[in-house]
Amino acid sequence: MCGIVGSIGTQQAAPLLLEGLARLEHRGYDSAGVAVLPPTAGSSPRIVKRAGRVRDLADALPKRFAGKVGIGHTRWATHGPATDANAHPHTDETGKVAVVHNGIIDNAAGLRAGLVDAGVEFTSDTDTEVLAHLIGRSGADTLEAKVAEALSAVEGTYGIAVLHADFPDRIVVARNGSPLIIGVGDKEMHVASDLAALVRYTTTVAHLEEGEMATLTAGGFATYRQDLTATATRSTHLDIDADAFDAGDCDSYMLKEILEQPAACERMLSGRLDDRFGTAHLGGLGLDAREIRAVRRVKLLGCGSAHYVGQMGATLIEELARIPADAEAASEFRYRNPVIEPDTLYVAISQSGETVDTLLAVQEVRRKGGRVVGLVNVVGSAIARECDGGIYLHAGPEVAVASTKALTTMFLGCALLALQLGRVRDLSVADGRRLITALQALPAQIQQVLDQEKELIPLAQRLAEAESLFFVGRVRGYPVAREGAQKFKEISYRHAEAYQTSELKHGPLALISPAVPTIAIVPHDELVDRNVGALHEIAARGGPLVVLTHPGVDLGGLEAEADVARIDVPRTERELDPALLTIPLQLLAYHAATHLGLDVDKPRNLAKSVTVE
Ligand code: F6R
Repeated sequence: MCGIVGSIGTQQAAPLLLEGLARLEHRGYDSAGVAVLPPTAGSSPRIVKRAGRVRDLADALPKRFAGKVGIGHTRWATHGPATDANAHPHTDETGKVAVVHNGIIDNAAGLRAGLVDAGVEFTSDTDTEVLAHLIGRSGADTLEAKVAEALSAVEGTYGIAVLHADFPDRIVVARNGSPLIIGVGDKEMHVASDLAALVRYTTTVAHLEEGEMATLTAGGFATYRQDLTATATRSTHLDIDADAFDAGDCDSYMLKEILEQPAACERMLSGRLDDRFGTAHLGGLGLDAREIRAVRRVKLLGCGSAHYVGQMGATLIEELARIPADAEAASEFRYRNPVIEPDTLYVAISQSGETVDTLLAVQEVRRKGGRVVGLVNVVGSAIARECDGGIYLHAGPEVAVASTKALTTMFLGCALLALQLGRVRDLSVADGRRLITALQALPAQIQQVLDQEKELIPLAQRLAEAESLFFVGRVRGYPVAREGAQKFKEISYRHAEAYQTSELKHGPLALISPAVPTIAIVPHDELVDRNVGALHEIAARGGPLVVLTHPGVDLGGLEAEADVARIDVPRTERELDPALLTIPLQLLAYHAATHLGLDVDKPRNLAKSVTVE
C-alpha cells in the first residue's frame, strides 16, 4: 500500500527521501514522488513524481534539487490510474502546498464537487488533491490550523504529511486509520508510515496515535489533537538492529526470511515455556487463571495467510484445551454484525499490526464489550495497541510481501495460547510437557526441512510449468494446504486452489489430469489411510502428485506406479504438524517463482500491509 516519508533538518532532503522510499518499495506501489522546499525564502515546494518505480523517480530528479525539508510518497492507485498526474505529492492552485496521503477520503467526490463549483481546477483524479486545495484555501494563520481545518471537512482514513511555502521550518503530519511514525534524529526529524524507512536514520521513534497530529521541525516535534490541544506522545528507543531490515547475502528478502525461521521460533518461544507446570507464560495477555478458565469459546480473526494460521490455531486450541474454537476472515467478520459473547476470547492475528480489516474487526469486538488479545509481530502497531493484551511474535522485521517467518511464529503463538488454555482445564501436566518438548525441538526440525532446499528446486521448477495446481489436506493439513496454495499463487501467479482432500470427489476430481499436479498433505496422523486412499484416486486419473508426508508413511506402492514425488518432514507431536508441513511449501513457491523470473519480494498487485479497506 502507499508509503510516506518526510525529513527536516540539516541534510539535503532528496537523497534521504529516495532512500526511505526505496525501503518502502516492498509495501507495493505503482508510482512515486517527492516534494522539497527550496532554500530561498517563500519558494513553493518543488515536486517531481512519476508512475513506475522509485528508480524512475530518482532518474527524473533534476541535478539541482536542493532543500532540507521534504516529503515523499509511494502510491498504490485507488482514485484514478497510476499516472504521473495522480502520483503524490499533490498541490493546491497556488502551488504553495504539497501533500502526501495514505488512506481513502470517503467524501472526496462531494468535496471535489464543492471545490469545482467554487472555481478550483483539479489536475488529478485523486481524493488527495481535495485535501491540498482545502489546506490551500484555509484562511487560518498557522499551518497546523489550516491542516486541522481541512481535516475537519474530511471523512475517511488518512496518514498525511504537508509542506507549505509560507511555513518553511516545518512539516505537519496527521494520522487517522493509517500509521505514521516519527523518527527523532540528531538535529533532524523524520516521519514515515513504516519503521523500515526510518531505521537507517534513527531507532528513537514516536508512534502517532489515532486522531493525532504533529509538527516536525529540525529541533523536535510536538503532538496535538485536531482541536490543537497538546498531547503527551513521547519518543521511545527501539532495541532493533537496522541490518535486520536488509536482505544481507540472500537474493531476496523472502528467502532470507524463510531461512530465518529457526531463529525466529527460538526467539518466539524464549522465556515462555514452563516445563515444571507444563504450561506457557504469557504475561502480556493480561489474563489471570480465573479469567482464562472462564473462556468458553475462542474466535481467531485475521486476513489472508494470518486467517489460515487462525484455522490451524483453532484446531490446536480445540484439541489441547477442548474449548470450541473457530477462525474467521477479519475482512468479513465485522460486516455481518457479529454476535459478541462475553465469555469468548477473540484473538486478532496480524504480522504488520496495521491491516485495516483486522483492526476494524478488533474495534468492533471491543465496541461491543468483547475481549481481544493480539498475536502481532510489529511492536507498537495499531492492532497491538488496540487489543486488551497480546503475545508479540518476535519474528523480526518481515519485509517480503509473502509472509513466512511471521506465520510460523503466529502458529507457535496459537500453540502457546492453546497450552495455557488447556492447562487451566483438563490438559494434564504430562501432556503439557509432551507439547513443550515438541515445541523446543521445532527450531532444529525446521532447520532440517530447510536443509532439503536444494532437493526441492527441480520439483519446484516442474510445478512452475503447470498452469493450475491443487493443494489438498484434511483437518490440521487443510489450512496448511490453503496456505501452500496462497504462497504459490501470490508469487508465481499460477492458479492454485486448496481443497479438503475429503471434498475432492464432491467436485474437483473432475479437473484432475496429467496437466494438473496435486500437492497432498499426508501427515502420519489418524487420517493417514484415508489420505493415502485419495492419492490413489488422483493417480488413477493421471494426476501428478507431490506428497508432503512423514518418514514411515506407506503410500501403498504408489511411488512405483505413478507420477509421485515425495517430501518427508520430521515428525513432531501431531497437534504441531502444521509448523513443519508449511516450510517445504514456502520453498516450493519461492523456487517456482524465481524459476519463472518473477520478483518474489514484490508480487504484482499485492502490498505488504493492507491499510485501506
Ligand atoms: C500472504 C500475506 C497476506 C497477509 C495478510 C494479513 O503471504 O502476506 O495474506 O497474511 O494480508 O497481513 P497481516 O498479517 O499483516 O495482518
